[in-house]
Amino acid sequence: METNLNGIRLHYEDVGAGPALLLLHAFPLNGAMWRQQVEWLRGEYRLIVPDLRGFGGSDAPPGPATMEQQADDMAALLEQLGVARAVVVGLSMGGYIAFAFWRRHADKVAALALADTKAGADSEEGRAGREANARLAEEQGANAIAEKMIPSLVATGATQALRDELRAMIGANSPDGIAAALRGMAMRPDSTPDLASISVPTLLIVGEADALTPPAEATKINMGVAGRPSYVAVLPDVGHLSAMEAPEAFSIALAEFLGPLGDW
Ligand code: MLT
Repeated sequence: METNLNGIRLHYEDVGAGPALLLLHAFPLNGAMWRQQVEWLRGEYRLIVPDLRGFGGSDAPPGPATMEQQADDMAALLEQLGVARAVVVGLSMGGYIAFAFWRRHADKVAALALADTKAGADSEEGRAGREANARLAEEQGANAIAEKMIPSLVATGATQALRDELRAMIGANSPDGIAAALRGMAMRPDSTPDLASISVPTLLIVGEADALTPPAEATKINMGVAGRPSYVAVLPDVGHLSAMEAPEAFSIALAEFLGPLGDW
């Protein structure tokens, strides 16, 4: 489906019925990375799965795509769909956006599921690396980003089929959208001071072999989240893209977290 919001055309899926989940994908993928979670959960939940600004079938306007802008896009999407509150599920960049969403639209958050992400901002070196990757995307295209990133996105044991799927998904993205997201991520603030304000149930999921945001980052978030108990699920033999590498274990962890929440 498609809608117009905040000056762009946004592509999204809206599947199933029941309490709503908003699934925020990783960089530089698109909403299709959640395909298997959608199959697992659609019997009981409504799954709203956007291609974030700059990715998949959504527009890729120029300029940094800040986490705040992405969060505001998501708030507008929920409003258009008549969804008052959702469980916000974000993997990696999706987690950065979930933190921004919490800061700006906490009234819309029933619970958080943060996967393979971190609360901290980029280091100077990290920002410089993002700018180099933004230029790589602009000069050599999305396939160059796919080749560079895939080895660090998945565990060494990841299948060739998954690597091929990622290559196709990343390669189909707009180089401008990739560059805008990289510059937007580089600008994101440190979310650590916000953790103590998180008063909704929170689940952390992380691949044991996540090379980009290792389990220690999930533990840091878990320790910082105040108010309500939070949980950490560490998925064995899995890298950064845990939802794609271990779809069943990821979906079960999510379902076990959601069940006791009842309706929202
Ligand atoms: C992601 O998976 O979304 C990215 O690795 C996040 C990042 O580059 O910080």
